[in-house]
Amino acid sequence: MTASGSADLVIVANRLPVDRVVEPDGTSSWRRSPGGLVSALEPVMRVHDGAWIGWTGGTSEESDDLAPFVEDGMQLVPVPLSAREVEEFYEGFSNATLWPLYHDVVAKPLFKREWWESYKRVNQRFAERAAEVAAPGAMVWVHDYQLQLVPQLLRELRPDLRIGFFLHIPFPPAELFSQLPWRRAVLEGLLGADIVGFHLPGGAQNFVRLVRQRVGHKTHRDLVTLPDGRQVRAAAYPISIDAADFEDLARSPDVTRRAEAIRAALGNPKRVLLGVDRLDYTKGIYPRLRAYAELVADGTFDVEDTVFVQVATPSRERVDEYRKMRDEIDMLVGRVNGDLGQIGRPAISYLHSSYPREEMAALYRAADIMVVTPYRDGMNLVCKEYVACRYDNDGALVLSEFAGAAHELSQAWLVNPYDINGMKAAIVEAANADPKELTRRMKAMRKTVAEHDVDRWATGFLDELDAVRPSGRRRVRR
Ligand code: F6P
Repeated sequence: MTASGSADLVIVANRLPVDRVVEPDGTSSWRRSPGGLVSALEPVMRVHDGAWIGWTGGTSEESDDLAPFVEDGMQLVPVPLSAREVEEFYEGFSNATLWPLYHDVVAKPLFKREWWESYKRVNQRFAERAAEVAAPGAMVWVHDYQLQLVPQLLRELRPDLRIGFFLHIPFPPAELFSQLPWRRAVLEGLLGADIVGFHLPGGAQNFVRLVRQRVGHKTHRDLVTLPDGRQVRAAAYPISIDAADFEDLARSPDVTRRAEAIRAALGNPKRVLLGVDRLDYTKGIYPRLRAYAELVADGTFDVEDTVFVQVATPSRERVDEYRKMRDEIDMLVGRVNGDLGQIGRPAISYLHSSYPREEMAALYRAADIMVVTPYRDGMNLVCKEYVACRYDNDGALVLSEFAGAAHELSQAWLVNPYDINGMKAAIVEAANADPKELTRRMKAMRKTVAEHDVDRWATGFLDELDAVRPSGRRRVRR
């Protein structure tokens, strides 16, 4: 067993909760990453004397200052990745093998043996770091598809720990997962945890079924029993956002003014439609923009009074499929604006950039219809952010039935992103809905988002992990 550290709660995630900011004079500092996960876990980390283990986003060749440090009151433990590991572990196995495989094979997953070797090596490094910093009997919460082997590797080093795992993306059906040449090793990696969490019950069921089929362990409902008697629970914990915080931001005078300024800059149109996504082929940006363009082309919408604002945040730009899809979207937007736009009135206002939360809140306030149409998405938090910002109970949400969030936000206009005509009909219906109908739907969605926020998600998961006894036998059974 590795010597233990002092952290009672250890978060292990591919990325640290801070981003490096380089000033023009070359000096660099850390800035807390935006996003609900960090704000939800920060208070829990403080209570527990917590540590966060993750990659800085750079390469060990660029920077060697990788000693643990404290930022914003959080103990941060960097894990170095070499340039080759970034290519093979992060861009390769994580984002060109697992990402497409777990997202319904929307793009073809690549299976490369050297990438798998790199994935194993990097997972081992994360596990070793966690084993060093965790106090005896500590809780360790491992996050996401990049680190699926960590639970088992860590348990081998530190059997005294309580280990939780949460997958932030969908977990695919057995028929797709079984393509993975290293399927059994991944399942065994996850089984090192006491609790394996998914967004949806379907993900947990897929996992349990695969464990039974491919590993041969006994399963009963959401419990897997290992040969040594240890039990692993697989269950759904749908993630959310800090809804109150988003609403406060949306109500602030600065954001209110900015939302008005955005509408004015767009020519004060009658209708603003909005899409906000990481530029990822799973997000269904292409069919959504096509649906909208057809509505303009056939005269349903007029660019004089309707505009589509699409924010596409740059992401994983060195991975081939991402480059390809960026070109496709650039071309589509160029064609649509060339064919349908007028002077000062583009049909699509396209922004390839990322924005701070304040600007996002202003965009949500400015938009009459939010269009979220992923082909597959673990949860999708953008739609929850939109709902949280609509404190007047107005605005319409058009949402893909293949986003995890569709299970909670059933009052949205639910669409199949593969069905362009269906999407067009839903957008038109949402655009023509009377205010009472909008209020009825938005009120119900706002109640869901307010009640199930990210704090409830994090404390719910950690309370259950806390109830696990070191032997792996549960004190509390639901
Ligand atoms: O949704 C999965 C996820 O890995 C998130 O955890 C993360 O914020 C996002 O995708 C972006 O990923 P990357 O770390 O590859 O930029």
